Amino acid sequence: MQPEITKTENKKIILSGIQASGDLTIGHYAGAIRNWVELQQDYDCYFMVADMHAITSRQIPADLRRRSLDVVAMYAACGINTEKSALFIQSHVTEHAQLAWILNCFTGFGEAQRMTQFKDKSQQHSDNINVGLFSYPVLMAADILLYQADLVPVGDDQKQHIELTRNLAERFNHLYSPTFTVPEPFIAKEGARIMSLQEPWKKMSKSDPNANSCIFLHDEDALIMNKIKRAVTDSGTDIVFDIENRPGVSNLVTLYHVATGKSIKDIEAEFAGLGYEPFKEAVGKAMVELISPIRNTFNDLRSHPDEISALLKSGAQKASKQAFKTLRKVYKKIGFVEPIR
Ligand code: TRP
Repeated sequence: MQPEITKTENKKIILSGIQASGDLTIGHYAGAIRNWVELQQDYDCYFMVADMHAITSRQIPADLRRRSLDVVAMYAACGINTEKSALFIQSHVTEHAQLAWILNCFTGFGEAQRMTQFKDKSQQHSDNINVGLFSYPVLMAADILLYQADLVPVGDDQKQHIELTRNLAERFNHLYSPTFTVPEPFIAKEGARIMSLQEPWKKMSKSDPNANSCIFLHDEDALIMNKIKRAVTDSGTDIVFDIENRPGVSNLVTLYHVATGKSIKDIEAEFAGLGYEPFKEAVGKAMVELISPIRNTFNDLRSHPDEISALLKSGAQKASKQAFKTLRKVYKKIGFVEPIR
């Protein structure tokens, strides 16, 4: 029998993804993946690796392939339950490209031009402003609308893309008849924004040239300890959460909160009067405790390619089943002749 997400009547649907353009960091875990793991309890979930989005900037083929598989294994290692949720690679479900094309024909040129991420990225990569980069948000809309997602967990920087998705869904529903669920963004909870360990006023980024600025989910224990010990702190010695004035310490407090689940208030109390050294020691240890089991499961999965293949096959099947259903409706409404399968 084909695996399928058993749609429970009252369960809402969630879709999210991360672009496969870099290795996953503690920032991805804190801001996205750990929330996904919890959401699985109450929602029917689709989690994908956005490899099609990744090629809007030039990729080294071998790296893209390795990274896509790494991200799949890392999702699973972090606790995405592949029995329950659909975990898949975007390009494996051909409906994404098919619906994206159709939605392109419903998106205004000016509408796409207004996307701030497009403006930012075309400034950053002025040597390669391709049409894919321009219609990146339309592909994202296809990702979401194919699954009739109610909620889309995203970071702040993706909110405008969800707004576009909503507009496209409403436009299509209005022009034809109700076809797509109009999704809502689901912005991650407080304390999820992880900053660079070296320049704590900037978001932690996998592409930061300073390797010490970023903790990867595959980092070895000693390396994690080292990076935390070298993290930039601020003038002053007390452990307080004050992002404006003490961004360095605040970032470490956030990391400790993510790793231990302790509240910010309790953390401040725990380290009152103790200074940076014991605090960093504790943050480092907590990070190691969080990351080492994830890394070990990840390494184990990565050394069993058959398991990853099986997981991907079942994930793509689950996703395809729903995606095809939606695409068939869309084909019918816009006047395409029903394909013979
Ligand atoms: N663009 C998103 C990002 O960079 C990744 C993404 C692609 C996504 N398709 C999506 C996120 C659909 C949510 C829903 O973070």
